[in-house]
Amino acid sequence: MADATTPPAVRAVALRELLQRYNHEYYVLQQPSVSDGEWDQLFHELRRLEAAHPELITPDSPTQMIGAAPSEGFEQVRHEVPMLSLSNVFSRDELAEWTRRVYRNAGRDELAFTVEPKIDGVASSALYDAGKFVRGATRGDGFVGEDVTSNMRTIRDLPRQLPADHEPPELLEVRGEIYMRRSEFDRMNAARAEAGGQLFANPRNAASGALRQLDASITASRPLRWFVYGVGQLRGTLPRQHSEMMARLRELGFTTTEVGVCRDVDELWAACESWAARRGHLDFDIDGVVIKVDDTWLHDEIGTVAREPRWATAFKFPAQQAETTLEAIEINVGRTGSLNPLAILTPVALGGVTIARATLHNEDELRRLDVRVGDRVVIQRAGDVIPKIVGVRADLRDGDEREFVWPTQCPVCGSSIERVEGEAHSYCVNSSCPAQLREQVAHFVSRGALDIEFLGQRLAARFVDAGLITSLADIYRLNWDQILEMEGM
Ligand code: IVH
Repeated sequence: MADATTPPAVRAVALRELLQRYNHEYYVLQQPSVSDGEWDQLFHELRRLEAAHPELITPDSPTQMIGAAPSEGFEQVRHEVPMLSLSNVFSRDELAEWTRRVYRNAGRDELAFTVEPKIDGVASSALYDAGKFVRGATRGDGFVGEDVTSNMRTIRDLPRQLPADHEPPELLEVRGEIYMRRSEFDRMNAARAEAGGQLFANPRNAASGALRQLDASITASRPLRWFVYGVGQLRGTLPRQHSEMMARLRELGFTTTEVGVCRDVDELWAACESWAARRGHLDFDIDGVVIKVDDTWLHDEIGTVAREPRWATAFKFPAQQAETTLEAIEINVGRTGSLNPLAILTPVALGGVTIARATLHNEDELRRLDVRVGDRVVIQRAGDVIPKIVGVRADLRDGDEREFVWPTQCPVCGSSIERVEGEAHSYCVNSSCPAQLREQVAHFVSRGALDIEFLGQRLAARFVDAGLITSLADIYRLNWDQILEMEGM
């Protein structure tokens, strides 16, 4: 970490190296090890440093370019049948409640359910025309994905041709999870370490990176595997029950997940517990159990809400916890001007990834936890969400811990801080605080909002910093000539 005594020239070199590494991870490896927020902080620290010491600017500084181009090579693929996500249940009670809703929506009081492991990999689709593999695609946003046909062709257990004597359907789109076995992942990483290469954080990131290589020979050199768990488009016939359909897909040469059949909540819960117990002994990562109504003819009847089918759900394994030391607390300023405390931790391994940061939500949460810098803390991670601090080992304190002093001024623009009655957050009162504008613009152009193509968060931040965007409306007034004058455009 830099402190006031680090010479600017030294810090600039360190920041440049860090940002270059993170850019490579983000754009090329597609496995960022830091959040966009952290990247932004480092990027702006470097900008401030370079603004104060222009002699430190180098042509290859990340402030002077946009980073490696995002993968341009993949065509888009529209999913004729959307690739949905799954609702979650976290306990036996929630599972029981889910089954009651299913009985109600199906208008039945008896149903068979299937139980499968939820593979922690990358969702994908493979299309077979007259038994021949013709197109592979990523899930993308569920409606449009990327054409990764050549890359999927390199996957060992993906049949390129279905056996004609088994009479495959005329058109068949199977869906499944691309993943890496733990053993093969470890071997690959060991070989990379030996060669002095970069290591992958976990099998899922490695699988995702391998699948999205523009050069399929690189994909081929990575040990990708594929588990099939469902069917999208279909012209022809397959068994009506999901469990039997999976058996038929096995006959056609696919590797499917293991599928069990249960008839009530007791059986379902026993199957969930059994998978949870097997989890650590499997050669692949699973993050839960997927439960589906076995009779696929009922699926339409039961329906889908908000991109999640009501005929399936995922039981998610309980969150994983670990203990580490809180080294510092940093404050980020969000889109609305809210001050968001971020815990900087001694890196610790948790569920296959290394955690070095955790959210502390807001000032109240800090006080509620009574967390001090130097404390041993318990962190928790559930799925992909940002890890958080859930407890403090006050019993381990030795008196060297320091209480965090909540800022009275915005750490970005120095304006005063306001705390509205009844709200958990404090806010920077300056509506043109650069941190706020940057976050607002980033939000505005993002997928969930206007989804502006070619204007991503980082470019938007550059425009804010260059003064091209001083309010949201400026997004519509961007001036080509000014943009083209910017480095790297
Ligand atoms: S079924 C409509 N089965 O989990 C049903 N999904 O959160 C959609 N996944 O994107 C999926 N293992 O990639 C299903 N046995 C399994 C699965 C599975 C992993 C993934 C899938 C999907 C995500 C849904």
